[in-house]
Amino acid sequence: MVSRVIPVDSFDLVIFGGTGDLARRKILPGLFRRFRAGQMSAESRIIGAARSEMDADGYRAFVREAVAEFDPDSEGDAEHLERFLARLDYVTLDAKGEEGWTDLAGLLRAGVVRAFYFSVGPALFGALAERLHAHEIASPDCRIVVEKPFGRDLESARALNRTLAQHFEETQIYRIDHYLGKETVQNLMAIRFGNMLFEPLWNSQYVDHIQITVAEEVGVGGRGEYYDRSGAMRDMLQNHMMQLLCLIAMEPPAKFAPDPVRDEKLKVIRALDPVAREDVVRGQYEGTRDQNSYRIEVGNRDSLTESFVAIRARISNWRWAGTPFYLRTGKRLRDRASEIAVVFKDAPHSIFGAKAGHHRNILTIKLQPNEGIELGVTIKEPGPGGMRLVDVPLDMTFADALGPEEADFPDAYERLIMDVIRGNQTLFMRGDEVEAAWGWVDPIIADWTEAGEAPLPYATGSSGPDDALMLMHRDGRRWREIRA
Ligand code: BG6
Repeated sequence: MVSRVIPVDSFDLVIFGGTGDLARRKILPGLFRRFRAGQMSAESRIIGAARSEMDADGYRAFVREAVAEFDPDSEGDAEHLERFLARLDYVTLDAKGEEGWTDLAGLLRAGVVRAFYFSVGPALFGALAERLHAHEIASPDCRIVVEKPFGRDLESARALNRTLAQHFEETQIYRIDHYLGKETVQNLMAIRFGNMLFEPLWNSQYVDHIQITVAEEVGVGGRGEYYDRSGAMRDMLQNHMMQLLCLIAMEPPAKFAPDPVRDEKLKVIRALDPVAREDVVRGQYEGTRDQNSYRIEVGNRDSLTESFVAIRARISNWRWAGTPFYLRTGKRLRDRASEIAVVFKDAPHSIFGAKAGHHRNILTIKLQPNEGIELGVTIKEPGPGGMRLVDVPLDMTFADALGPEEADFPDAYERLIMDVIRGNQTLFMRGDEVEAAWGWVDPIIADWTEAGEAPLPYATGSSGPDDALMLMHRDGRRWREIRA
């Protein structure tokens, strides 16, 4: 199988925060990979804009280093790299002042797609939007890309939406949740809506419960200050985990197109029940001899912020009433492993008798690493010893099925930035969706803040606090092991 790369229209992409961490780690190396793949036209240009005093050559040197560090495959691909670097430019610019804006206006061309990546803190969104208009840089069909965190609660998210709406139409605003750019996350929709097999069983009549796990092995690292103000709930659950929940639970949209998909996701969020205190477990990692504890990593303070959260959620609609969704995410867990497990109910009657034991089918969608799907089926244990049953996986990693090259998935950012240029918002969050997600999360946070509860300690390399296990045990269920 040979993958098809469909080139996108020529564009001018301005990256505000063009020397920042995200630009260095993700945006610029991702753009280079798209260039190398032949998706970015030779006339397209990328303009870094930031406060640092630098000229275009200085920026090219910065990008050269970023690409070498975050895309090691680029080594030995000097020809592509030089041509890519030639597409770059830079302006020194003050988001809140007037410096640089006329220069920027002078660089942009008419007749190509114009996109502005706000790779800066949300406090600057308003200033950037205003100046883009004041200097007549924002064309009527330009696009802006904004990153999470999109607010820290419903009120601040609403304020951000209002600010952006003063300057741009909703169809121009691309709110990134990079989980939606992951190949395997998009595969969730392909698996559900491209196959006849699963959809008839995809409801509370057949599904006992669903587990969504996003486990990370890393700690908060150098992002302690940001993270300590957010915690796992704001950093991961309100956005990435809720997107996964929406994709797994939503009704089939009439079309794979922006509004049909986002309307269905929104309906899921609106159908979520409020969460009771006993359905939430928060944790914070302890240190080991070699690794610091959370408290030390965030500046040696007595923090009440959680680095782990588990929740039992319920969706009150016809499809899902009675099927709980268990969500958990955390840092410094045993492995980096993210998966969604759809656990089906037991067969209504066992013709093999009690001795055959207890068996059920589990469909596991492995998001990362080792992307693939696995279906647990029950078969007869081989041998002459009567009818004994055993559960085995019908296992398929995408690398096996598609070949290693095809399964060498582009990074989420590559896909999403190309979608911005194509003008396709399907994999971006709409303003009402983000607000609805905060509307569900806010009372949960308010509840524990009011109680002044400290998160429970858990050991680095474990699967989180024991109470998270209890969240399922008390329902007679158990989490799947966290294993890459
Ligand atoms: C980010 C969070 O949005 O997602 C990080 O801010 C987290 O804390 C990261 O580590 C996880 O992304 P991925 O793609 O590595 O699963």
